[in-house]
Amino acid sequence: MSGNEIRAKFLAFMESRGHAIIPSASLVPQNDPSVLFNTAGMQPLVPYLMGQPHASGRKRIADSQKCVRTNDIDEVGDNTHLTFFEMLGNWSLGDYFKQEALTWSFELLTSKTEGFGLDPKRLYVTVFQGDENAPRDEEAYVIWKEIFEKAGLDPGKRIFFMDADSNWWSPGDNGPCGPDSEMFYDVSGTLTEGLTREEFIAADDRQDIVEIWNDVFMEYEKKDGKVVGKLAKQNVDTGSGLERVTAVVQGKSDVFATDLFVPILDKIAEHSSKADPRAARVIADHIRASTFLIADGVAPGNTDQGYILRRLMRRAIRYADTLGMPAGSLVTLVPVIVNLYGEAYPEVAVNEQNIARVISTEEEQFRKTLENGLKQFNKITLQIHMVSKIVDGKKVIDTSVAPTTKQAISGQNAFDLYTTYGFPIELTEEIAAEKGLVVERKGFDKLMIEHRDLSRAGAEQKFKGGLADHSDQVVQYHTTHHLLLRALQMVLGDQVKQRGSNITNERLRLDFSNDTKMTDEQKTEVEKIVNEKIAAGLPVILNTLPKEEAEQLGAEHEFGAKYPDTVTVYSIGPVGATVENPDFANAFSLEFCGGPHVTNTSDIKGIFKIQKEESSSAGIRRIKGVLG
Ligand code: ALA
Repeated sequence: MSGNEIRAKFLAFMESRGHAIIPSASLVPQNDPSVLFNTAGMQPLVPYLMGQPHASGRKRIADSQKCVRTNDIDEVGDNTHLTFFEMLGNWSLGDYFKQEALTWSFELLTSKTEGFGLDPKRLYVTVFQGDENAPRDEEAYVIWKEIFEKAGLDPGKRIFFMDADSNWWSPGDNGPCGPDSEMFYDVSGTLTEGLTREEFIAADDRQDIVEIWNDVFMEYEKKDGKVVGKLAKQNVDTGSGLERVTAVVQGKSDVFATDLFVPILDKIAEHSSKADPRAARVIADHIRASTFLIADGVAPGNTDQGYILRRLMRRAIRYADTLGMPAGSLVTLVPVIVNLYGEAYPEVAVNEQNIARVISTEEEQFRKTLENGLKQFNKITLQIHMVSKIVDGKKVIDTSVAPTTKQAISGQNAFDLYTTYGFPIELTEEIAAEKGLVVERKGFDKLMIEHRDLSRAGAEQKFKGGLADHSDQVVQYHTTHHLLLRALQMVLGDQVKQRGSNITNERLRLDFSNDTKMTDEQKTEVEKIVNEKIAAGLPVILNTLPKEEAEQLGAEHEFGAKYPDTVTVYSIGPVGATVENPDFANAFSLEFCGGPHVTNTSDIKGIFKIQKEESSSAGIRRIKGVLG
């Protein structure tokens, strides 16, 4: 079964069990400035897990969510770690609970017809043993016991109670959380007879068994790192890494040996003159991640998401050099990746040319600075390595004496390499390591923090960050954002399309297609329209419609994005419109959108003002606006 078939099979299985299949959200959280990327399938769904009704009107949801995690970037190249990955997930929003969730997980993994046909004898599970926050999960235990007995297996050798470190899941210090039950698969193929708890733990340490599925029973809430009580509803949040499951189903112990990576690695090998499997894997991972990031609108830069993208691409370029790949060959991976993913993620296919252009341009730019940077690097290392001796009363460098201790490149030097030559710190560290040197990382980090606008540290903090912010203020900005887009179209013309968005508690930001700078008159006119619509008290209505119908209505949507057959469209106005009679023909604004929104524009407090209108990139303008 191919990776693409596994994804499709998972979605079909969940659809036949009443789940609405929704498209992956963008890698960049749309309304959540506190995190750089979505790192788990549940992340874009936090408001719904916290109790807000899902815009689709459904309580069972499933998808394959694009995720990026960079905290393990140094591990990439081993058998399991990746920066970009897909997380298969199904959710119950106060609907089914443990019985269905666990039964379906087992069925999906083992069924030969509807599922992946894995051998039940190679499956093990863990459940929560209980602590001061929640009791031992007897319910999950009893369900698993029945499942294993039915499969003719001894539950005593299959189910293990574990503590909160392994069996309590939360996305951070705040938000929905709960005990979980994890499923493991014996990749060694030798542990089919069952295990004792001690043997299970040892097998896990040896990586003879790997986690392939997680069922989280989200009925608790955390605040500032503490469990503070139960949520209004019992939810289920599940997750499974597609690449890992694919490896297991395809009988590989290594994600890079699956059909999701082999074509990329083959292409790399075609261009390489040296063999280094780890370097090839890093390139495959990083260029795959870069492709998806660019498709979601990220451009290489010095802050936030752009900085991560730049780091990934520059790292890939360095590894390409170690393989002897000629300059400019990384871009040939793009069509291979598009071929693998273009169907499941049309945004990758639609943006293929742009992705290729961004990768090529970044490589050209980097190569220019790399050469100069390496010269500077050599100067620095020469200074570090020098050991002086006195010859004829003069101090000269004694090149015959090698430094005896591990010596450090100062934080200042590393910082200069970053600011002047664009060397990401990892690159400096890697080149340093090749020369037997270390980098004074603390000093470097300190300088970076002082320069917050170039701040990697700031970016990293956001990884740890909190949850989606769905405060009243953010919701008000979200609705204002719809009003603004329509107002721009009225003033500048219907060719104006949204090309990016970002909303915080303090402001909204909208990127849109337009070739010219707006005049002051145009800005004033746009503000006037938005404020009139706020004052008019227009109803904001959530409509669930077949996709074709929504398209025919001319509802705004993102070009190239994949939408499910049934979509949610928010209409704003006219006065008197209701859910039963939305009066689309007279609506002021119609947009494909997941919400949340205010229910009436009069709930928007304050006067809208355009703070800034500037160029974002070629043909794209950016507006920052506030409600003051
Ligand atoms: N949210 C859970 C995880 O990421 C399912 O493991």
